[in-house]
Amino acid sequence: MANLRAPKVRRQPVSVTRKMSASLPGLRQLAQERGLRIHHLGAGYPHPEVTDPRGFLAHQARYFAHLEAAEGLNDPSTVPEHLRESFSYTDTLGPVTTRASFARVYGSDWGVALDPARLLPTVGATGGISLACSLFERPGIPIAYITDAPTYAGFLARAGLCQHARIFSVDMDEEGPLVERLREQIRTARAAGYHVPFYYTIPDGHNPAGFSFTQRRREAILEVARSEGILILEDAPYLYISYLDAPTRPRPFLAMAPEQTVHLFTGSKIGFPGPRVGFLYTEADVEIDGGETVPLLDLLLVESSGDILFQNPGALRGFEALLHDADFAERRSLWPVAEEKLAVYRENRQIMLEGLERGLGAWPDLFHWTHPQAGFFSVFTFRTPGVRTDDAFVGRLVAEHGVVVIPMYDFYAADARERNPAAGYDQLRLSFCFSESMGAQRRRDLASAVDAFCSAARAVAGVG
Ligand SMILES: Cc1ncc(COP(=O)(O)O)c(C=O)c1O
Repeated sequence: MANLRAPKVRRQPVSVTRKMSASLPGLRQLAQERGLRIHHLGAGYPHPEVTDPRGFLAHQARYFAHLEAAEGLNDPSTVPEHLRESFSYTDTLGPVTTRASFARVYGSDWGVALDPARLLPTVGATGGISLACSLFERPGIPIAYITDAPTYAGFLARAGLCQHARIFSVDMDEEGPLVERLREQIRTARAAGYHVPFYYTIPDGHNPAGFSFTQRRREAILEVARSEGILILEDAPYLYISYLDAPTRPRPFLAMAPEQTVHLFTGSKIGFPGPRVGFLYTEADVEIDGGETVPLLDLLLVESSGDILFQNPGALRGFEALLHDADFAERRSLWPVAEEKLAVYRENRQIMLEGLERGLGAWPDLFHWTHPQAGFFSVFTFRTPGVRTDDAFVGRLVAEHGVVVIPMYDFYAADARERNPAAGYDQLRLSFCFSESMGAQRRRDLASAVDAFCSAARAVAGVG
């Protein structure tokens, strides 16, 4: 018997996406034994067609060569600045050139003047979530995290690591979280003795809810955050994966109120997930122990330097290349970079929405799905009595129809399921971002995946 102990350490529950990938090989075999093709509507990863790094690597090499030429080095023994910097210790804020460039380009895209000194590199948005949680968990007092019902699985996983944190979730309608419920949850948590640092959300292309918050709702949320004195932790991976025309795009909280917001940018969707480039930005000041008011960023910077200490300067300088065009001029906008990805996602979204309409549009009383304004997902709801989208249901969809989807129930925090034990058990998350095939074959595969899903849904509901 082991004599090593980990007092009070708890085993964390396995997420539904991990369970799904673990059970997939067996289910896949069952489906194949029945002669069924496997259709992917489950994975939430960037599409391989837009994540081939070779074009980027060639551009990065040319950008670095351009920087070297600009240095005018004649002595071959002198190491070029970008190379020296990329392979040295940097400070916790990372290379200043990358932050200066990103502040200008991102700030101009979203109509906000960003101070590069307040841009803190993170290990993707995941690192930003973790950093924000760690800071407020550090004093060891009971913490309440306010978030949506449903919310991002990665946030549930991170929040679940802290044994003195509890989630207070807020139900949503088609515009966003219900603001009265938001206020109520903040007050309920406080009355129960919890400190409430922030409301965590994904206003654009919500994962997993499959829609974006309206501008009107954002303003109402901000009013609650201001009057209650809490931050908005804005996770923004899909800001540029947008299907709306510029004038109709709602504004990120970053642009509406940088002093009330902790904004998380990630390079994972507009660039590549592997390099794990992200930035946290905030102009908030907070009152700390002893009554002093300090910039939140200073606290986060110390937290970050105690955590990962040094960012990856090579990855950040690589991201800097992405901020420059083929002639090495700093981009005026990241939208042209996004457009290369959007061409595929826009098309996939249309194939999915048209396929659902064609296959199930005749039964609006039985089926509903969201029309995402951004992001990778549509949430499908069975309005059919008696349907329960649990693991067994999702397993049957694979084994009997070859269709892989993700059930929604696991994206609801425990308190949401206490309020409504059936929360999410009538929903599925359909993703249109990922498939193994490219080009015309990708289009055909997605169309047949949606058709297979529709015939499965009709069979479940007993229609058609
Ligand atoms: C809402 C949300 N937050 C964070 C992430 C992860 O971002 P990153 O790759 O930057 O860690 C994802 C990725 O799917 C996401 O959907």
